[in-house]
Amino acid sequence: MFGKRVERCYNIAELRKLAARRLPAPMYHYIDGGADDEWTLNRNTEAFGNYEFRPRCLVDVSKLETATTVFGEPVEWPFFCSPTALSRLFNYQGERAVARAAHAAGTIYSLSSISSSSIEETAGFTDGPKVFQVYVFKDRGLSREFVHRAKDSGYKALQLTVDVPGVSGNRERDIVTGMTVPPKLSLMSLIDIAMHPRWVYRHLTTPKIDVANVAHRPPPGSGNLGGIIEYLNRQLDTGVTWDDAEWMIREWNGPFALKGVMRAEDARRAADIGATALMVSNHGGRQLDYSPAPFDLIKEIVDAVGDRLEVICDGGVRRGVHILKALALGARACSAGRPYLYGLAAGGEAGANQALTILRTELLRDMALVGCNNIHDLDESWVRKVD
Ligand code: FNR
Ligand code: LAC
Repeated sequence: MFGKRVERCYNIAELRKLAARRLPAPMYHYIDGGADDEWTLNRNTEAFGNYEFRPRCLVDVSKLETATTVFGEPVEWPFFCSPTALSRLFNYQGERAVARAAHAAGTIYSLSSISSSSIEETAGFTDGPKVFQVYVFKDRGLSREFVHRAKDSGYKALQLTVDVPGVSGNRERDIVTGMTVPPKLSLMSLIDIAMHPRWVYRHLTTPKIDVANVAHRPPPGSGNLGGIIEYLNRQLDTGVTWDDAEWMIREWNGPFALKGVMRAEDARRAADIGATALMVSNHGGRQLDYSPAPFDLIKEIVDAVGDRLEVICDGGVRRGVHILKALALGARACSAGRPYLYGLAAGGEAGANQALTILRTELLRDMALVGCNNIHDLDESWVRKVD
Protein backbone atom coordinates (compact mmCIF):
# COMPACT_ATOMS: atom_id res chain seq x y z
CA MET A 1 0.00 0.00 0.00
CA PHE A 2 2.92 2.31 0.79
CA GLY A 3 5.20 0.85 -1.89
CA LYS A 4 5.05 3.67 -4.40
CA ARG A 5 5.79 6.38 -1.93
CA VAL A 6 8.87 4.83 -0.32
CA GLU A 7 10.33 4.06 -3.72
CA ARG A 8 10.25 7.76 -4.49
CA CYS A 9 12.43 8.47 -1.45
CA TYR A 10 15.86 8.93 -2.97
CA ASN A 11 17.83 9.28 0.27
CA ILE A 12 17.53 8.63 4.00
CA ALA A 13 16.50 12.23 4.69
CA GLU A 14 13.47 11.78 2.40
CA LEU A 15 12.51 8.57 4.20
CA ARG A 16 12.74 10.49 7.47
CA LYS A 17 10.31 13.12 6.13
CA LEU A 18 7.86 10.45 5.05
CA ALA A 19 8.18 8.75 8.46
CA ALA A 20 7.32 12.06 10.13
CA ARG A 21 4.11 12.19 8.10
CA ARG A 22 3.09 8.59 8.59
CA LEU A 23 3.73 8.30 12.33
CA PRO A 24 1.91 9.90 15.23
CA ALA A 25 4.21 12.46 16.86
CA PRO A 26 5.05 10.48 20.04
CA MET A 27 6.37 7.54 18.02
CA TYR A 28 8.20 9.70 15.50
CA HIS A 29 9.98 11.73 18.16
CA TYR A 30 10.85 8.60 20.11
CA ILE A 31 12.81 7.46 17.04
CA ASP A 32 14.15 10.81 15.93
CA GLY A 33 15.07 12.45 19.23
CA GLY A 34 18.15 12.37 21.42
CA ALA A 35 19.20 13.34 24.93
CA ASP A 36 19.36 16.85 26.43
CA ASP A 37 20.45 19.41 23.79
CA GLU A 38 20.81 16.74 21.09
CA TRP A 39 24.37 17.91 20.52
CA THR A 40 25.67 14.36 20.27
CA LEU A 41 22.73 13.29 18.11
CA ASN A 42 23.64 15.93 15.53
CA ARG A 43 27.36 15.54 15.98
CA ASN A 44 27.19 11.82 15.15
CA THR A 45 26.46 12.64 11.52
CA GLU A 46 28.27 16.00 11.32
CA ALA A 47 31.55 14.38 12.40
CA PHE A 48 31.80 12.66 9.01
CA GLY A 49 32.33 16.17 7.61
CA ASN A 50 35.68 16.37 9.41
CA TYR A 51 37.28 14.24 6.72
CA GLU A 52 37.38 14.57 2.96
CA PHE A 53 38.42 11.95 0.41
CA ARG A 54 41.63 11.64 -1.52
CA PRO A 55 40.15 9.96 -4.61
CA ARG A 56 42.23 7.85 -6.97
CA CYS A 57 41.82 8.14 -10.72
CA LEU A 58 42.06 5.64 -13.56
CA VAL A 59 41.14 2.68 -11.40
CA ASP A 60 39.14 -0.18 -12.92
CA VAL A 61 35.87 -0.02 -11.02
CA SER A 62 33.94 -2.41 -13.25
CA LYS A 63 33.85 -4.88 -10.36
CA LEU A 64 33.43 -3.71 -6.77
CA GLU A 65 34.23 -5.98 -3.83
CA THR A 66 32.19 -5.20 -0.71
CA ALA A 67 31.88 -8.55 1.04
CA THR A 68 33.34 -8.99 4.50
CA THR A 69 32.60 -10.73 7.78
CA VAL A 70 31.14 -9.26 10.96
CA PHE A 71 30.97 -11.28 14.20
CA GLY A 72 32.34 -14.12 12.08
CA GLU A 73 29.35 -14.03 9.73
CA PRO A 74 29.68 -13.30 6.02
CA VAL A 75 27.88 -10.12 4.95
CA GLU A 76 27.60 -8.76 1.41
CA TRP A 77 28.63 -5.25 2.42
CA PRO A 78 30.13 -3.63 5.53
CA PHE A 79 26.90 -2.53 7.18
CA PHE A 80 24.28 -4.09 9.47
CA CYS A 81 21.15 -3.17 11.41
CA SER A 82 21.63 -2.08 15.04
CA PRO A 83 19.15 -3.26 17.69
CA THR A 84 16.17 -0.99 18.36
CA ALA A 85 13.25 -1.39 20.75
CA LEU A 86 9.61 -2.21 19.97
CA SER A 87 9.53 -2.03 16.17
CA ARG A 88 5.79 -2.73 16.03
CA LEU A 89 5.16 0.72 17.50
CA PHE A 90 6.36 2.19 14.20
CA ASN A 91 4.69 -0.19 11.77
CA TYR A 92 2.57 -3.25 12.43
CA GLN A 93 5.05 -5.40 10.47
CA GLY A 94 7.64 -4.67 13.17
CA GLU A 95 10.80 -6.75 13.66
CA ARG A 96 9.71 -9.18 10.97
CA ALA A 97 9.93 -6.45 8.32
CA VAL A 98 13.40 -5.33 9.36
CA ALA A 99 14.77 -8.85 9.78
CA ARG A 100 13.53 -9.70 6.29
CA ALA A 101 14.92 -6.49 4.84
CA ALA A 102 18.33 -7.15 6.41
CA HIS A 103 18.36 -10.68 5.01
CA ALA A 104 17.32 -9.45 1.56
CA ALA A 105 20.15 -6.90 1.74
CA GLY A 106 22.66 -9.64 2.56
CA THR A 107 23.41 -8.50 6.06
CA ILE A 108 22.89 -9.04 9.80
CA TYR A 109 19.82 -8.14 11.84
CA SER A 110 20.30 -7.29 15.54
CA LEU A 111 17.31 -7.98 17.78
CA SER A 112 16.83 -5.73 20.83
CA SER A 113 16.06 -7.22 24.24
CA ILE A 114 13.12 -4.83 24.34
CA SER A 115 11.59 -6.11 21.12
CA SER A 116 7.95 -6.53 20.22
CA SER A 117 8.62 -10.00 18.73
CA SER A 118 10.32 -12.58 20.88
CA ILE A 119 13.76 -14.12 20.46
CA GLU A 120 12.18 -17.35 19.24
CA GLU A 121 9.61 -15.77 16.90
CA THR A 122 12.22 -13.51 15.32
CA ALA A 123 14.56 -16.45 14.81
CA GLY A 124 11.87 -17.93 12.57
CA PHE A 125 11.33 -14.82 10.43
CA THR A 126 14.30 -15.45 8.13
CA ASP A 127 17.25 -17.77 7.60
CA GLY A 128 19.56 -14.75 7.62
CA PRO A 129 22.19 -14.16 10.31
CA LYS A 130 20.82 -12.60 13.49
CA VAL A 131 22.50 -11.37 16.65
CA PHE A 132 20.91 -10.50 19.98
CA GLN A 133 21.37 -7.42 22.19
CA VAL A 134 21.28 -7.84 25.98
CA TYR A 135 21.62 -5.99 29.23
CA VAL A 136 22.84 -7.36 32.54
CA PHE A 137 19.60 -7.21 34.50
CA LYS A 138 19.26 -7.03 38.28
CA ASP A 139 17.83 -10.50 38.08
CA ARG A 140 20.88 -12.29 36.70
CA GLY A 141 18.59 -15.25 36.11
CA LEU A 142 16.71 -13.18 33.51
CA SER A 143 19.99 -12.28 31.78
CA ARG A 144 21.09 -15.90 31.83
CA GLU A 145 17.71 -16.90 30.42
CA PHE A 146 18.09 -14.38 27.56
CA VAL A 147 21.61 -15.57 26.76
CA HIS A 148 20.54 -19.19 26.54
CA ARG A 149 17.36 -18.50 24.63
CA ALA A 150 19.42 -16.58 22.06
CA LYS A 151 21.92 -19.44 21.84
CA ASP A 152 19.19 -22.07 21.51
CA SER A 153 17.47 -20.02 18.80
CA GLY A 154 20.61 -19.82 16.67
CA TYR A 155 21.66 -16.19 17.15
CA LYS A 156 25.24 -15.81 15.99
CA ALA A 157 26.55 -13.24 18.45
CA LEU A 158 25.63 -11.27 21.54
CA GLN A 159 25.85 -7.49 21.91
CA LEU A 160 26.02 -6.31 25.52
CA THR A 161 24.87 -2.68 25.73
CA VAL A 162 27.13 -0.82 28.15
CA ASP A 163 25.97 2.78 27.68
CA VAL A 164 22.76 2.30 29.68
CA PRO A 165 24.22 2.00 33.20
CA GLY A 166 20.77 1.37 34.65
CA VAL A 167 20.02 4.99 33.79
CA SER A 168 18.27 6.25 30.67
CA GLY A 169 19.18 9.47 28.86
CA ASN A 170 17.06 12.59 29.29
CA ARG A 171 15.00 12.63 26.10
CA GLU A 172 13.07 15.84 26.31
CA ARG A 173 10.97 15.28 23.19
CA ASP A 174 9.55 12.22 24.93
CA ILE A 175 8.71 14.28 28.00
CA VAL A 176 6.75 16.68 25.81
CA THR A 177 4.84 13.93 23.99
CA GLY A 178 4.47 11.73 27.06
CA MET A 179 6.47 8.74 25.73
CA THR A 180 7.81 8.24 29.23
CA VAL A 181 7.91 5.33 31.67
CA PRO A 182 5.08 5.02 32.49
CA PRO A 183 3.57 6.60 29.34
CA LYS A 184 1.66 9.83 29.99
CA LEU A 185 0.53 10.82 26.51
CA SER A 186 -0.31 14.51 26.37
CA LEU A 187 -3.59 15.77 24.96
CA MET A 188 -1.71 17.03 21.89
CA SER A 189 -0.25 13.54 21.44
CA LEU A 190 -3.67 11.92 21.67
CA ILE A 191 -5.04 14.35 19.10
CA ASP A 192 -2.06 13.68 16.87
CA ILE A 193 -2.60 9.93 17.15
CA ALA A 194 -6.25 10.41 16.21
CA MET A 195 -5.06 12.25 13.10
CA HIS A 196 -3.22 9.12 11.94
CA PRO A 197 -6.15 6.77 11.38
CA ARG A 198 -4.13 4.30 9.32
CA TRP A 199 -1.67 3.81 12.17
CA VAL A 200 -4.55 3.58 14.68
CA TYR A 201 -6.39 1.04 12.52
CA ARG A 202 -3.33 -1.18 12.27
CA HIS A 203 -2.68 -0.78 15.97
CA LEU A 204 -6.20 -1.87 16.86
CA THR A 205 -6.45 -4.74 14.39
CA THR A 206 -3.12 -6.47 15.06
CA PRO A 207 -2.01 -8.30 18.25
CA LYS A 208 -1.31 -6.13 21.27
CA ILE A 209 2.23 -4.75 21.41
CA ASP A 210 4.28 -6.31 24.18
CA VAL A 211 7.86 -6.50 25.34
CA ALA A 212 7.68 -9.99 23.94
CA ASN A 213 10.76 -11.44 25.63
CA VAL A 214 9.39 -10.91 29.13
CA ALA A 215 5.70 -11.35 28.39
CA HIS A 216 5.83 -14.69 30.24
CA ARG A 217 7.03 -12.98 33.42
CA PRO A 218 3.88 -11.26 34.57
CA PRO A 219 5.05 -7.89 35.81
CA PRO A 220 3.76 -6.60 39.08
CA GLY A 221 1.25 -3.92 38.21
CA SER A 222 -1.07 -3.46 35.30
CA GLY A 223 0.23 -6.09 32.90
CA ASN A 224 -0.20 -3.71 29.96
CA LEU A 225 2.68 -2.40 27.84
CA GLY A 226 3.38 0.44 30.29
CA GLY A 227 3.50 -2.03 33.18
CA ILE A 228 5.89 -4.34 31.37
CA ILE A 229 8.20 -1.49 30.40
CA GLU A 230 8.19 -0.34 34.02
CA TYR A 231 9.07 -3.86 35.09
CA LEU A 232 12.00 -3.94 32.65
CA ASN A 233 13.09 -0.48 33.71
CA ARG A 234 13.27 -1.69 37.28
CA GLN A 235 15.39 -4.59 36.02
CA LEU A 236 18.06 -2.21 34.69
CA ASP A 237 20.92 -2.43 37.17
CA THR A 238 23.07 0.55 38.16
CA GLY A 239 25.62 -1.81 39.68
CA VAL A 240 26.82 -3.60 36.53
CA THR A 241 30.63 -3.86 36.23
CA TRP A 242 33.35 -5.52 34.18
CA ASP A 243 32.93 -8.70 36.24
CA ASP A 244 29.36 -9.00 34.97
CA ALA A 245 30.48 -8.46 31.40
CA GLU A 246 33.13 -11.13 31.83
CA TRP A 247 30.55 -13.49 33.31
CA MET A 248 28.28 -12.96 30.32
CA ILE A 249 31.10 -13.48 27.82
CA ARG A 250 31.83 -16.84 29.43
CA GLU A 251 28.17 -17.76 29.63
CA TRP A 252 27.74 -17.01 25.90
CA ASN A 253 30.97 -18.58 24.70
CA GLY A 254 30.87 -17.19 21.15
CA PRO A 255 31.27 -13.93 19.19
CA PHE A 256 30.58 -11.14 21.67
CA ALA A 257 30.45 -7.35 21.29
CA LEU A 258 30.39 -4.61 23.91
CA LYS A 259 28.06 -1.94 22.52
CA GLY A 260 28.69 1.60 23.69
CA VAL A 261 32.45 1.69 24.25
CA MET A 262 33.98 5.16 23.91
CA ARG A 263 37.55 5.01 25.30
CA ALA A 264 40.69 3.18 24.25
CA GLU A 265 41.32 1.91 27.82
CA ASP A 266 37.87 0.34 27.91
CA ALA A 267 38.43 -1.15 24.48
CA ARG A 268 41.65 -2.82 25.73
CA ARG A 269 39.87 -4.11 28.80
CA ALA A 270 37.09 -5.51 26.60
CA ALA A 271 39.70 -7.45 24.65
CA ASP A 272 41.31 -8.65 27.89
CA ILE A 273 38.07 -10.15 29.19
CA GLY A 274 37.41 -12.00 25.94
CA ALA A 275 35.12 -9.79 23.84
CA THR A 276 35.59 -10.30 20.11
CA ALA A 277 34.05 -7.05 18.86
CA LEU A 278 33.19 -3.50 19.90
CA MET A 279 30.41 -1.29 18.76
CA VAL A 280 31.81 2.20 19.20
CA SER A 281 28.57 3.96 20.02
CA ASN A 282 26.79 6.54 22.13
CA HIS A 283 23.40 4.88 21.60
CA GLY A 284 22.60 7.25 18.75
CA GLY A 285 22.89 10.33 21.01
CA ARG A 286 20.10 9.03 23.22
CA GLN A 287 22.12 8.56 26.41
CA LEU A 288 24.97 10.91 27.42
CA ASP A 289 24.81 14.19 25.53
CA TYR A 290 28.19 15.74 24.67
CA SER A 291 29.72 12.32 24.25
CA PRO A 292 31.85 12.17 21.11
CA ALA A 293 30.67 10.90 17.77
CA PRO A 294 31.59 7.26 17.09
CA PHE A 295 33.33 8.31 13.87
CA ASP A 296 35.63 10.64 15.83
CA LEU A 297 36.65 7.73 18.08
CA ILE A 298 37.31 5.07 15.46
CA LYS A 299 40.95 5.87 14.88
CA GLU A 300 41.87 5.97 18.57
CA ILE A 301 40.09 2.70 19.27
CA VAL A 302 41.39 0.90 16.19
CA ASP A 303 44.92 2.00 17.10
CA ALA A 304 44.40 0.50 20.57
CA VAL A 305 42.71 -2.81 19.73
CA GLY A 306 42.27 -3.10 15.96
CA ASP A 307 44.51 -6.19 15.89
CA ARG A 308 42.48 -7.92 18.61
CA LEU A 309 38.84 -6.89 18.05
CA GLU A 310 36.40 -6.08 15.28
CA VAL A 311 35.60 -2.38 15.60
CA ILE A 312 32.16 -1.25 14.43
CA CYS A 313 31.17 2.41 13.92
CA ASP A 314 27.60 2.65 15.23
CA GLY A 315 25.66 5.89 14.90
CA GLY A 316 25.12 8.84 12.58
CA VAL A 317 25.49 6.87 9.34
CA ARG A 318 23.10 8.32 6.75
CA ARG A 319 25.13 8.07 3.53
CA GLY A 320 27.30 5.60 1.67
CA VAL A 321 30.24 7.99 1.99
CA HIS A 322 29.97 7.74 5.77
CA ILE A 323 30.58 4.00 5.58
CA LEU A 324 33.61 4.50 3.32
CA LYS A 325 35.15 7.08 5.66
CA ALA A 326 34.66 4.88 8.74
CA LEU A 327 36.31 1.98 6.94
CA ALA A 328 39.18 4.20 5.84
CA LEU A 329 39.89 4.99 9.49
CA GLY A 330 39.89 1.30 10.37
CA ALA A 331 36.30 0.28 11.19
CA ARG A 332 35.38 -3.19 10.05
CA ALA A 333 31.78 -2.15 9.35
CA CYS A 334 29.13 0.40 10.27
CA SER A 335 25.73 -0.08 11.81
CA ALA A 336 22.68 2.13 12.17
CA GLY A 337 19.24 2.26 13.74
CA ARG A 338 17.28 5.29 12.59
CA PRO A 339 17.75 4.86 8.82
CA TYR A 340 15.87 1.57 8.72
CA LEU A 341 13.37 2.78 11.34
CA TYR A 342 12.48 5.75 9.15
CA GLY A 343 11.99 3.28 6.34
CA LEU A 344 9.90 0.95 8.49
CA ALA A 345 7.71 3.83 9.65
CA ALA A 346 7.39 5.18 6.12
CA GLY A 347 6.32 1.91 4.57
CA GLY A 348 6.83 -1.32 6.51
CA GLU A 349 9.07 -3.92 4.92
CA ALA A 350 9.20 -2.06 1.61
CA GLY A 351 10.42 1.00 3.49
CA ALA A 352 13.07 -0.90 5.44
CA ASN A 353 14.21 -2.43 2.14
CA GLN A 354 14.36 1.01 0.58
CA ALA A 355 16.55 2.35 3.43
CA LEU A 356 19.07 -0.46 3.04
CA THR A 357 18.99 -0.24 -0.76
CA ILE A 358 19.69 3.50 -0.61
CA LEU A 359 22.74 3.04 1.64
CA ARG A 360 24.08 0.14 -0.38
CA THR A 361 23.57 1.86 -3.73
CA GLU A 362 25.30 4.97 -2.42
CA LEU A 363 28.20 2.90 -1.10
CA LEU A 364 28.75 1.26 -4.50
CA ARG A 365 28.47 4.54 -6.38
CA ASP A 366 30.88 6.23 -3.99
CA MET A 367 33.41 3.42 -4.23
CA ALA A 368 33.50 3.88 -7.99
CA LEU A 369 33.76 7.65 -7.67
CA VAL A 370 36.56 7.52 -5.13
CA GLY A 371 38.44 4.93 -7.18
CA CYS A 372 38.31 2.05 -4.73
CA ASN A 373 37.25 -1.34 -6.09
CA ASN A 374 37.73 -3.34 -2.89
CA ILE A 375 36.69 -2.21 0.58
CA HIS A 376 39.62 -4.14 2.02
CA ASP A 377 41.99 -1.69 0.33
CA LEU A 378 40.60 1.22 2.34
CA ASP A 379 43.00 2.79 4.79
CA GLU A 380 43.89 6.23 6.07
CA SER A 381 45.53 7.19 2.80
CA TRP A 382 42.05 7.56 1.29
CA VAL A 383 41.01 10.43 3.54
CA ARG A 384 42.39 13.66 4.91
CA LYS A 385 41.28 15.76 7.84
CA VAL A 386 39.57 18.98 6.77
CA ASP A 387 41.40 21.97 8.28
C1 FNR B 1 17.91 2.46 19.87
N1 FNR B 1 19.10 1.88 20.30
C2 FNR B 1 19.06 0.76 21.11
N2 FNR B 1 20.23 0.17 21.50
C3 FNR B 1 20.20 -0.94 22.28
O1 FNR B 1 21.26 -1.44 22.61
N3 FNR B 1 19.01 -1.48 22.66
C4 FNR B 1 17.81 -0.95 22.32
O2 FNR B 1 16.75 -1.46 22.67
C5 FNR B 1 17.82 0.24 21.54
N4 FNR B 1 16.67 0.86 21.18
C6 FNR B 1 16.68 1.95 20.34
C7 FNR B 1 15.48 2.51 19.92
C8 FNR B 1 15.49 3.55 18.99
C9 FNR B 1 14.18 4.12 18.54
C10 FNR B 1 16.72 4.05 18.49
C11 FNR B 1 16.76 5.16 17.47
C12 FNR B 1 17.90 3.52 18.94
C13 FNR B 1 20.40 2.39 19.80
C14 FNR B 1 20.79 1.71 18.48
O3 FNR B 1 21.14 0.37 18.67
C15 FNR B 1 21.99 2.42 17.82
O4 FNR B 1 23.06 2.47 18.73
C16 FNR B 1 21.68 3.82 17.34
O5 FNR B 1 20.42 3.85 16.73
C17 FNR B 1 22.74 4.30 16.37
O6 FNR B 1 22.48 5.59 15.93
P1 FNR B 1 21.70 5.94 14.56
O7 FNR B 1 22.10 4.94 13.54
O8 FNR B 1 20.25 5.84 14.91
O9 FNR B 1 22.17 7.30 14.27
C1 LAC C 1 16.25 3.44 23.60
C2 LAC C 1 16.40 2.27 24.51
C3 LAC C 1 15.27 1.34 24.48
O1 LAC C 1 17.28 3.97 23.15
O2 LAC C 1 17.60 1.61 24.37
O3 LAC C 1 15.13 3.91 23.41
